[in-house]
Amino acid sequence: MDNRPIGVFDSGLGGLTAVSEIRRILPSENIIYFGDTSRVPYGGRSRETLLKYARQDVRFLRSFDIKAIVVACGTVSTNALTELRQENDLPILGVVDPACARAVKVSKGGRIGLIATAASVRSGAYERQILALKPDAAVLSKPCPLFVPLVENGRYHRGDVVVETVAREYLAPLKDAGVDTLILGCTHYPLLTDVIADVMGSGVALINTGGEAAWELKRTLTASGALAQERQGGEAFYASDISGDFSAIAREFLHEDIPHVHSVEIERY
Ligand code: DGL
Repeated sequence: MDNRPIGVFDSGLGGLTAVSEIRRILPSENIIYFGDTSRVPYGGRSRETLLKYARQDVRFLRSFDIKAIVVACGTVSTNALTELRQENDLPILGVVDPACARAVKVSKGGRIGLIATAASVRSGAYERQILALKPDAAVLSKPCPLFVPLVENGRYHRGDVVVETVAREYLAPLKDAGVDTLILGCTHYPLLTDVIADVMGSGVALINTGGEAAWELKRTLTASGALAQERQGGEAFYASDISGDFSAIAREFLHEDIPHVHSVEIERY
């Protein structure tokens, strides 16, 4: 038993979709969330910059006595996970491996699509992992850089002509290629589930990376006897920039109000 909190971070608020899944799957766990809202989006940055940001995010979370870290950011998971694991002596879980394991499991014909940020697609991390698990899989990747700003601006609902138009254009090659499974490789994308499902059709399985990471976290904590037995600290939320509409956006991701958000000067870490 280990009641210490789990640290969760993302480039911004998208990682709250993973928090929502952790809450559902591991309701006794205490969570400290950090969103690097002053430097979001990460998705177009170089690997060097991503490494620097990710190290600072981890150093901030490790200023608390945490038992594990969930990298609830596809972009950091695909570009910096190896280094973060080498440099830290606690379990660090990313979103790539659990999402790929699930995709390979549910895919009927082995035609797997990936949508993610440009940096995630460029890294090739999802493809490598899928092919390691299923060498005869056909993997098709598509960067979708407009999705994150659309989601952050509340433009992700079914019926929104702007997001539907963008989704149709981004997803056309994947649909034409006949993918049977699509990994939503960025933690913002679960909010687009309805829009993406409408374009892809009901026969295509959609994989929520944050949800799969939450299941992986449960397996990891169970195996090491580190599950929390009681909810002590609950949740604490930190961000590097807190704008007026922070709470409204956070509510969209988490389906409830965040009572208080603490400000962090992340460049100090
Ligand atoms: N949440 C980030 C991810 O999962 C996307 C947003 C960004 O570009 O920072 O990749």
